[in-house]
Amino acid sequence: MLLGVVRRARGYRGGSRPIRSNVLAGRTVANLFYEPSTRTLVSFQLAARNLGAEVVNVSVASSSVVKGESLVDTIRTFDSLGLDALVMRHSEAGAPYLAARHFSGSILNAGDGLHAHPTQALLDILTLSDRFTDLSGLTVAMVGDILHSRVARSTAVALLTLGAAVRLCAPPTLLPEQGWLTLLRGGRPGTVSQTSSLAEALNGADAVMALRMQRERQAGGLLPDVKEYIREYGLSAERLSTLAPGAVLMHPGPVNEGVELHSDTITAPFSLIGEQVTNGVLVRMAVLELLLRGANG
Ligand code: NCD
Repeated sequence: MLLGVVRRARGYRGGSRPIRSNVLAGRTVANLFYEPSTRTLVSFQLAARNLGAEVVNVSVASSSVVKGESLVDTIRTFDSLGLDALVMRHSEAGAPYLAARHFSGSILNAGDGLHAHPTQALLDILTLSDRFTDLSGLTVAMVGDILHSRVARSTAVALLTLGAAVRLCAPPTLLPEQGWLTLLRGGRPGTVSQTSSLAEALNGADAVMALRMQRERQAGGLLPDVKEYIREYGLSAERLSTLAPGAVLMHPGPVNEGVELHSDTITAPFSLIGEQVTNGVLVRMAVLELLLRGANG
């Protein structure tokens, strides 16, 4: 399934823009974002439009949510309006699952709390598999705020499913408890470890995925000093020189320039950050088509 979506996403790759079609003509997709977003929101909008769907954007700030409408009530309203799909981002883990119980169309999770960000994982896998033919031999280091990152969770699960080795790296206060690794691995073929030593995480890795410091989610005291973080974990071109030859750099965005990534790395030739954004539209097209037309569509 994972690689099936990736293949379908590749099929939409045109020259400078994705190939458009009308397979979702007459369908309506609503984007309901309770948390800020730039690339995820815009790429879902473009993806639905590229397939010929009608797109409705619900700005939470101007909707009845500010009048205290409950999530379930909002979802029921969308259901009565006859929408086909609801793309949803919410600060509470599990919100899309609750929504799915009250909506007869498809719900797409565009990020729920600390839990998951499935289309980010898919675009990360597409981006990596454009560069590396076999992800099962790959070692990927994720560096940053692992504890608060739904991207780390989703992308790590995808990589483990494909047999890759995942190294999670953060200051001790931003790493989950060790027992979490067993849950994350969950019998998948890959391997996962965590460390607070950046040198250990980077040494010989094929890819490094930097993660944003999620200051809005951090309870006070988890990161005493940003300067200290930059000194110990900030990724500079020099630090990345210990990666394997041909290694790549990724970041889901938004980047805190000068914190998790030095500016010399963001646009370096080994950075795939731009490709990740471009691929986001392709995987979201694939997911929308699969959900709204079915696997044989
Ligand atoms: C991420 C998210 O919102 O989970 N961004 C994204 O979707 N591209 C990561 C983040 O906010 O740091």
